[in-house]
Amino acid sequence: MTDNKKTLSLPLSEAITIAAQAISEVMSGRSLTEVLDELDAHERPIVQSLTFDALRKWVRSHELIKQFVPKTPPPEVDHLLSVAIALFIRNDADDKGYAVHTVVDQAVRACGEYDQTLYAKGLVNAVLRKVSLALQPVADKPFYPPDPIAMFVPPWWRASLKRNYSKDWQAILFAQAKRAPLILRVNQKQYSRDEYRALLTESGIQSKPINAIAGISLPSALLLPDAVPVSDLPGFYSGAVSVQDAGAQLAATLLNPQADELILDACAAPGGKTAHLLELADCQMRALELDGKRLGKIGGNLDRLRLHSEKAKVLRGDASKSAWWDGVPFDKILIDAPCSASGIVARHPDIPFLRRESDIPVLQQRQREILTQAWKMLKSGGILLYVTCSVFPEEGEDQAVWFAQEHSNALRLDAPGQLLPTDANDGFYYALFKKNGP
Ligand SMILES: C[S@@+](CC[C@H](N)C(=O)[O-])C[C@H]1O[C@@H](n2cnc3c(N)ncnc32)[C@H](O)[C@@H]1O
Repeated sequence: MTDNKKTLSLPLSEAITIAAQAISEVMSGRSLTEVLDELDAHERPIVQSLTFDALRKWVRSHELIKQFVPKTPPPEVDHLLSVAIALFIRNDADDKGYAVHTVVDQAVRACGEYDQTLYAKGLVNAVLRKVSLALQPVADKPFYPPDPIAMFVPPWWRASLKRNYSKDWQAILFAQAKRAPLILRVNQKQYSRDEYRALLTESGIQSKPINAIAGISLPSALLLPDAVPVSDLPGFYSGAVSVQDAGAQLAATLLNPQADELILDACAAPGGKTAHLLELADCQMRALELDGKRLGKIGGNLDRLRLHSEKAKVLRGDASKSAWWDGVPFDKILIDAPCSASGIVARHPDIPFLRRESDIPVLQQRQREILTQAWKMLKSGGILLYVTCSVFPEEGEDQAVWFAQEHSNALRLDAPGQLLPTDANDGFYYALFKKNGP
């Protein structure tokens, strides 16, 4: 892939080996982010690119494996093949890719890591040659016509999409199988969007503003048609800009923070929305997070964005309980609840491989407990924003309806509701409530 070549910092065969191992870890239940976080800095870009591609093209690569491998191969060989075959399935006409012989040669070398080396080498060599011919009659020509490939999801997930989105379910899966665009949020405390665009242009980086999502204007969002490493973004390390999906940027905009308001971000790590709220107003922020490991990321983000102040406090605690709370009611509360993450598959293609159907009722119950507790900590007249990055109504509209039924003092305000994933934004659910009376 063009991107891989630009960032290639270790031999392709090694990158394929590490990527295939990472995929094996995902298949045994580990999050890909966790696995990638353990790699060395020079390994990560290429391995991330290879694994993301392999997971996004899983449906197609496995049709081909089925067609050309008589017996189901051992998992480690299957994972290696899926990484290599994804290199043959180009993303678009600009994606020049590797020559067929390079991929075959490097994938065969990558088999060196496995016990049954000879068997694996022979199989990988034969299968990749057949696959390359099936995809392109003239080997080594630079471009295989792009296929629309739908993202792999397990049957229960697909059934839910079909049931809830009879018209859009396929569009959702196609949008999620594409490479997500790089979207930035300009730190308004440092630059206006126009000022920052000018800096990007000076550095030779193209960008275009995203002015609104779901009819809500976004003053800070920029889309970069060609992804660049964050280290190339002007002022990234001094906090000029963050990477954040445009759909996610709605949260702070909808909550509309004002100076000195006491605001709780109840599920805060890694701190993307906390930081956005602080960029918009000098509010008194309480960023709460249950997971101690993730908690540190909030401080790291606030440091980079120069947003630390006495007004911003990072707390460890459980939002569904009150043990951490000092009893002072909040003006506004953001609940960016733990959820299936079914809306952000374009940026986390491992999610469909990790989720189980039985996770959904457990998550739903956890979301209800957090909503119930947060409402008790909100001032009369205060505002609560409930967000999930899910496309399942069980974590979205069903929750908002349940919440309004349970709380007679909850007044529903205008909010986008279910936002489906598109080429430009991830899928989110947004519901806004005002507390009418104690
Ligand atoms: C969707 S993520 C939040 C993303 C974050 N708002 C951002 O924009 O960067 C949900 C977070 O909630 C945390 N969490 C889960 N259960 C929690 C609870 N009971 N109390 C507080 N945080 C919780 C998870 O560890 C996770 O970091």
